Amino acid sequence: MRSLAEQDVTGLGGRVSVLARQKADHVRLDALLHELGATPAAEQDDVLRRIYRLVFPHAFAEESVLWPALRRLLADGPALTLQIEQEHQRVNELVTALEGLAPDDPRRQPVLEELVAVLREDVRDEEDQLLPRLQERAGTAQLRAWGVAWEVVRRVAPTRAHPVVARRPPGNVVAALPLSVLDRLRDLADLAQQRGPGRVRPVLAPVSRGLTALAHRVEHLPLMTRGEDPSTSRA
Ligand SMILES: [Fe+2]
Ligand SMILES: [Fe+2]
Repeated sequence: MRSLAEQDVTGLGGRVSVLARQKADHVRLDALLHELGATPAAEQDDVLRRIYRLVFPHAFAEESVLWPALRRLLADGPALTLQIEQEHQRVNELVTALEGLAPDDPRRQPVLEELVAVLREDVRDEEDQLLPRLQERAGTAQLRAWGVAWEVVRRVAPTRAHPVVARRPPGNVVAALPLSVLDRLRDLADLAQQRGPGRVRPVLAPVSRGLTALAHRVEHLPLMTRGEDPSTSRA
């Protein structure tokens, strides 16, 4: 069993394969984490938003497409995927905590450091253990089919932290569409707030806050937590 980190695209089943797509995203994340480390606290919002836009749809597509397949395929799949889901849940909680802390708040740095550490740990667990196990059991055609399904879900998945919704189907699948719409509107509002014309900026802060409040209400609908393992519940 070889880590994905030691294999080239051909060995991973070609560009379409879910393994090559996973590794490409993990490499992008590594670059963004380096950029974050080199950015002063007061200017980190932009790079953080790019990290969220990468990791949340990526993890959502894992939780809704890949991990259910792994649980069916491997005898120890439930334990292996639960560990990853717990890491994802921690990321959701840390990002939610971070969003409530100003750049000069002394509580911010330890949260940020834990977030970076958990993100790196998640990549290592997937590349060194979980995904090589998938590679052992699945043929190239299957890896490519999962690659396409994973990519389709990733492109329409939520882009923000949602610690309350289930990390498993059916709750996360039900939550995907409404939260994805709200998250992507909020991404637009935040981006325009940062880069748009000066006169529209004051209007956009309350719009962004309103979308966040609405997303929190949607998260708390009972349907959205169905299928959740108790250890990843934020009750
Ligand atoms: Fe991943
Ligand atoms: Fe992950």
